[in-house]
Amino acid sequence: MKKRVLITGAAGFLGSHLCDRFLMEGFHVIGMDNLLTGNLENIEHLFPNPHFEFYHHDVSKFVHVPGELHYILHFASPASPIDYLKLPIQTLKVGAMGTHNLLGLAKAKKARILVASTSEVYGDPEVHPQSEEYWGHVNPIGPRGVYDEAKRYQEAITMAYHRVHGLETRIVRIFNTYGPRMRLDDGRVLPAFMSQALRGEDLTVFGDGSQTRSFCYVDDLIEGIFRLLMSDYPYPVNIGNPEEITIKEFAEEIIRLTGSRSKISYQPLPQDDPKQRRPDITKAREILGWEPKIGRSEGLRRTLEYFKAKVLPIHS
Ligand SMILES: NC(=O)c1ccc[n+]([C@@H]2O[C@H](COP(=O)([O-])OP(=O)(O)OC[C@H]3O[C@@H](n4cnc5c(N)ncnc54)[C@H](O)[C@@H]3O)[C@@H](O)[C@H]2O)c1
Repeated sequence: MKKRVLITGAAGFLGSHLCDRFLMEGFHVIGMDNLLTGNLENIEHLFPNPHFEFYHHDVSKFVHVPGELHYILHFASPASPIDYLKLPIQTLKVGAMGTHNLLGLAKAKKARILVASTSEVYGDPEVHPQSEEYWGHVNPIGPRGVYDEAKRYQEAITMAYHRVHGLETRIVRIFNTYGPRMRLDDGRVLPAFMSQALRGEDLTVFGDGSQTRSFCYVDDLIEGIFRLLMSDYPYPVNIGNPEEITIKEFAEEIIRLTGSRSKISYQPLPQDDPKQRRPDITKAREILGWEPKIGRSEGLRRTLEYFKAKVLPIHS
């Protein structure tokens, strides 16, 4: 009998890669998504697979899955700033009620649950790099608070279920991840830069571009998540790539990679935009024996292939 795993947010960027990975590992995968920010195109290649099922469902409402469940991965949530600024209430609901519903399901099925948290729980950090011990610097009532606080609540209720009910829980704090199946218009820096460069438009940098980010290729992230789920560690673990780059350098790198003649244009910095972000991955190294393997040049090359196929037909 195959082990059965429920993946919420299955039609999204990360959820769809998780579905691929768990099917490859020999699991029976149940994908769930309400298509709020996701796209069935990301998983349509899986529909002929008899070990894949899809439920079109909003996890902020009661969740029922018939039969046994061994693992749950809760990835449903608007995730890019453009999405959660447009969908603040849905973002809070899926982090709070959605997580509560899935913890209840995990308890009923005696399943192990892993929830997708984020580096945003650190807010605009005052310590650098950020280790799991840092409690964060978040403005609860700022525009980004809806996402940051939803994820902080998600972590709190997940730990409460672990402590009170002895549920097997895992929490992954994901740092910026990129790769094929990111939405072109999701407002994140990489799709924005790549589409602008491929269209020959100027790349929009907010502020003076000295703010830093670190980018993890999706295959590395999925490997880290898989190892965390299979580990026995119930506390949050950072998964991300610690190699840091300024946004200005990143824009220049993308212009070079695409061979574009685009220039950089500077716009005012949005409110509460973090100045720097870099994961301390000591825990992931020690507990999971994990570290990223795919460097930025290789990861960007693979991602560019995907973006070319999406952007160039629309543009030409
Ligand atoms: N991509 C990153 O760099 C990153 C970083 C940190 C954390 N995360 C977390 O990883 C998860 C997935 O992010 P992503 O980048 O794949 O985003 P995404 O928007 O591509 O995927 C999220 C999916 O969740 C679905 N969804 C949203 N609300 C739902 C609901 N109420 N019921 C059912 N489905 C719902 C959407 O339709 C979408 O398919 C999110 O929880 C996000 O917070 C992602």
